[in-house]
Amino acid sequence: MVFYCLCAGFILYTYKLWTHEEKPSFVSPQLIADGKLVWQKHNCQSCHQFYGLGGYLGPDLTNEFERWDNNAQVIEAFIRSGNNRMPSYNLTQDEMKALLGFLEAMNTTGNADPRHFAIRKDGMIE
Ligand code: HEC
Repeated sequence: MVFYCLCAGFILYTYKLWTHEEKPSFVSPQLIADGKLVWQKHNCQSCHQFYGLGGYLGPDLTNEFERWDNNAQVIEAFIRSGNNRMPSYNLTQDEMKALLGFLEAMNTTGNADPRHFAIRKDGMIE
């Protein structure tokens, strides 16, 4: 009896995990892929992290889009101008569009800041 209950629990929980909805992304997969290449080409990861992994000179950028209320222009302006700790990047319009699309899509993959994690009753983290 216990065995069947555990099996049923396992199946239900697995179903729940598989049907768990992510935040929707409206960026085309091609743009995301191009943006990832721009990210790699300029080695942003050497100073920035996604989900805490990367270099630690700059902040984690997983939820950078949300941080600025999805205002891409603010982020673009910062990347173009840089400051005394972050180099400026004079990217082409296309490169910038792709990079911002990549960051926008990254934000929809989840929440990377452990300070804002909340554990729900069903064990999921939001
Ligand atoms: C040499 C290290 C370095 C590299 C390489 C680098 N950054 Fe940064 N970046 C920083 C630092 C340091 C900051 C924090 C600046 C501050 O707050 O004064 C920062 C801040 C930022 C911010 C603003 C974060 C915020 O909300 O305050 C964005 C967006 C950003 N970087 C994007 C990028 C992108 C995109 C690339 C690659 C094209 C990149 N960075 C490459 C060091 C770097």
